[in-house]
Amino acid sequence: MKIRVFETMHDAGLYTATCLEQVLQYQPNPVLGLATGGSVVPLYEQLVRLTDDGSEWAGATTINLDEYIGLAPSHPQSYRRFMDHHLFNKLHDKPHHIYIPNGNALDLAAECEKYDQIIRNHPIDIQILGIGVNGHIGFNEPDSLLQSRTHVVKLREETIESNARFFASSDEVPRKAITVGVQAILQAKRIILLAFGEAKADIIARTIAGEVRTDIPASMLQLHADVTIVLDAASAKRLSKR
Ligand code: GLP
Repeated sequence: MKIRVFETMHDAGLYTATCLEQVLQYQPNPVLGLATGGSVVPLYEQLVRLTDDGSEWAGATTINLDEYIGLAPSHPQSYRRFMDHHLFNKLHDKPHHIYIPNGNALDLAAECEKYDQIIRNHPIDIQILGIGVNGHIGFNEPDSLLQSRTHVVKLREETIESNARFFASSDEVPRKAITVGVQAILQAKRIILLAFGEAKADIIARTIAGEVRTDIPASMLQLHADVTIVLDAASAKRLSKR
């Protein structure tokens, strides 16, 4: 794993946006795996700036990791709305294909299967990840086993509490979500995970330097050959200098 520690989230966002821009620029029909959450906001700000002539996006496909179940796409906290607001609505040319799981599908099992087929048809060149305070990636929550495929997940209490900051109260946070499984993440050619702030310091140390464990889903990234962990000083605090 490569570890890059930046002074500010802005610098970290610019570094990561440059990595994505290179893929958009040089890879024919690039496929970007995208994430939501506070950690990726500076990344999308910089990516909009770096690709403002728009042509880079014409042949691109984006595949998001996850979506809440039961929120309309227009709900202010849906991940569809997050992506439109922070990225897609700001681009001159939209990606050729934009995929985000449909958390309102009547048949959720069919939606999961359909999403896996989409990922099989579009192998991901570069996957962006955030990390939950409990080590979740996408919405793959800590458990005694991890699902390899796209699935419906019941969110853990700590995830509901942590994401309540985006809602009026924790009662309004959906209890379930659709997420891609660990297979889709680990099959991406390259992975960049972003984490900032002291609240992530402990889980980052356990993700990078601890055992590979299903109750720390992000520790699975140790099994991948091309992972970069992008941090600030606060989230890197518990890592040894080596
Ligand atoms: C949500 C998303 C995760 C993301 C996490 C981190 O739970 N489902 O994919 O990694 O938020 O969020 P933040 O960057 O706001 O800490």
